[in-house]
Amino acid sequence: MILFKNARVIDPVTQTDQILDIRTENHSIIETGTDLEAQNSNTIVDLTGKILTTGFIDLHVHLREPGEEYKEDVESGSKAASSGGFTGLCPMPNTKPVCDNDTLAEMLVIKGQRVGLVDIYPVGAITKNQEGKELAEFGMMKRVGARALSDDGKDVTNTLVMRRALDYAKAFHMPIFAHCEDKYLAGSGAMNEGYYSSKLGLSGIPREAENIMIGRNIMLAGLTNGHMHISHLSTKNGLELIRQAKKDGIKVSCEVAPHHFMLTDSCIENYDTNYKVNPPLRTQEDVKALIMGLADGTVDAIATDHAPHDTEDKDTDFSNAAFGISGLETVVALTLDGLYHQGKISMMRFAELLSSGPRSVLGLAPQSIEPGQKADFTIIDPELIKVVDKNRFYSKGKNSPFHGMSLKGWPYMTVKDGKIVMKEGVILE
Ligand code: DOR
Repeated sequence: MILFKNARVIDPVTQTDQILDIRTENHSIIETGTDLEAQNSNTIVDLTGKILTTGFIDLHVHLREPGEEYKEDVESGSKAASSGGFTGLCPMPNTKPVCDNDTLAEMLVIKGQRVGLVDIYPVGAITKNQEGKELAEFGMMKRVGARALSDDGKDVTNTLVMRRALDYAKAFHMPIFAHCEDKYLAGSGAMNEGYYSSKLGLSGIPREAENIMIGRNIMLAGLTNGHMHISHLSTKNGLELIRQAKKDGIKVSCEVAPHHFMLTDSCIENYDTNYKVNPPLRTQEDVKALIMGLADGTVDAIATDHAPHDTEDKDTDFSNAAFGISGLETVVALTLDGLYHQGKISMMRFAELLSSGPRSVLGLAPQSIEPGQKADFTIIDPELIKVVDKNRFYSKGKNSPFHGMSLKGWPYMTVKDGKIVMKEGVILE
């Protein structure tokens, strides 16, 4: 039994914002209230000044297992997630081999359970081997725990295949996570097309490459009444399309990654490949619009697109470097520092974007801070100021453009199934 004392509880499900004590037993919350007595709780944790909310879920993570375990694996990725404040994550299927079947999806779930730090909700491939041709077996993957489908890393170019995918996914109540990129228009671009790509002499990826596919995918969601979730949204126009689609009653949701609301293409001035990501960093105008969407509820979730790479893949010229940012261990601090402490979003909205928002996209039952609910908590120290140190990441991916940045507000503790598994960034073995 653990008694958490004096926490500021932020619960988006019940809209609670109150100082409370919480008693847990085994995996569950058994009591909440003020001035709870120790009784037979064997551990008492004073959370004065800390914020306690339902465990965070990251909708977009590259765990690289199987096939590229030198970049990340289930264990290192789970540790990175837990240290970053998460109790659940969705691994993307662009592994080697591709996670397009129940055997691989189940392997991820089981390995995740063995590590025991985060729930793993695999994202199965939409098409076999992510080739964009033949649909994978959605139902088989759902049966072993997959919650969504994506060919992330590339779009499903064939519009008819995407239509069929939406129709088929509907039968299993699974959202399609769409990587929106017209590959012909994006070509071999390495960064956002605009002033900076011209100045730096790098080939550009126009925003239209993303917007065209967002538009197409929204229309297909309207046609099929399927659930279309737009992954790693980076453009102002894309956001406007989503805002309108939501008004029109189309089943569309979206996520934004922290690098897309914190950074712009101007950061690439010194050709630092840590800033190379897909979709690319856009402009100040896009950042402003995304922050507006995060604040007003158009954006459903913040997701990291955690894409760990080894130094060999990044330590090369910008055009040839791999796309991706290692993001699990910085997202909470970036969101608190860049949005909450700047007065752009409230603490309630912050919790929504990382807990109830992602749960709802996945179709998971709402989880609140009330007796009978699971004791999966993310506990935040909103005032702690710390410098990002990639060398202390649990992730094998040290590819972070935020290394050396001082940020205010960090994960303090992660509680999974009633057990304190992380304290002050450190995984408790
Ligand atoms: O930057 C990215 N990296 N974007 C993607 O869509 C894929 C990812 C990866 O797998 O490295």
